[in-house]
Amino acid sequence: MALAVIVVKSGGAAAVPDWQRHFAALLPRFRVVGWDDAGAAPEAVTHAVVWAPEPGRLAKFPNLKLILSSGAGVDHLADPALPKHVPVVRMGAPEAVARMAEHVTLSVLYHHRNWHRFADQQRRRVWAECDNPEAPARRVGIMGLGQLGTGAALAVAKFGFQVAGWSRTPKALPGIQCFAGPRGLAPFLKRTDILVCVLPATPETDRIINAVNLALLPRGATVINAARGSLVHEADLLAALDSGHITGAALDVFETEPLPEASPFWTHPLVTITPHVASFPGRAARAKFCAGVIEAHARGENLPNLFDAARGY
Ligand code: NDP
Ligand code: OXD
Repeated sequence: MALAVIVVKSGGAAAVPDWQRHFAALLPRFRVVGWDDAGAAPEAVTHAVVWAPEPGRLAKFPNLKLILSSGAGVDHLADPALPKHVPVVRMGAPEAVARMAEHVTLSVLYHHRNWHRFADQQRRRVWAECDNPEAPARRVGIMGLGQLGTGAALAVAKFGFQVAGWSRTPKALPGIQCFAGPRGLAPFLKRTDILVCVLPATPETDRIINAVNLALLPRGATVINAARGSLVHEADLLAALDSGHITGAALDVFETEPLPEASPFWTHPLVTITPHVASFPGRAARAKFCAGVIEAHARGENLPNLFDAARGY
């Protein structure tokens, strides 16, 4: 007999059988129901694995014990009615860390080796070399040294770049120059040629990539945003690209997603766009992480990746 019910809202109704298959192998005592079917017996639902649930809906499960975000960010859970007594755990599958490290490494190398310029030249049938310094001459700066930023910083450092990171609280990481807090931001930006953003969306980080902070980057710097669109002041970034202060950007996330057809980013010669796929672990990996957390919770253990409402991430 099923002892508990996991409701899943991640990937739409078509993804439910896949979630059911993965959880059946990991947690055979649980029944898995899709979001659209959970309303029939809301009192049976004990766990929720969700991405962007409609505000107010999670509060309708009176016996909910645990909310698992199917993504690492939790801004999609902004909901004043979210039950405060129910812990929220952010996605922390090792595959999520690995995929972000892949995305950041790819984007850093792309700009380091001028492929963004070559892509533009190809469109114009231009055959021209570009300045090509070696990795130790290039300074990469990672904003956010949490699970994803740390994995990315360590991956990029393997190529010999000078890597620094910036976080809210001080950190010590082997081979990474660590800056922290508002006072650490300006010195961090001033030494950064390739800026990578892996911060959470909070009131403090809102539009942190703005004209003032872009101006602190050395002329010719590039910007990689793999976190949230709300971190970038899009008009300021476009102005910095057009003025030549910023010479390339790889943007995975935007203020409005999908990116509106009219956005000037689509056709900007120095911008590379990906559709919010920087870290996209498969369902098997996410179900495994969720099952581990559900079991740890049942044993009364401390939970990993707990959302802290006071911090905002
Ligand atoms: P973590 O919570 O593990 O890490 C967040 C990091 O940001 C921490 O180092 C934290 O500092 C730092 N930070 C938070 N606020 C500030 C601040 N005001 N000033 C300076 N540093 C700050 O998050 P994750 O690494 O798991 O994820 C980061 C973000 O990546 C997610 O919130 C999500 O928005 C985004 N993301 C994007 C994906 C994509 O596909 N595009 C996929 C997955 C996530 P401290 O260490 O001191 O707490
Ligand atoms: C996210 C994710 O938080 O996809 O963006 O994990």
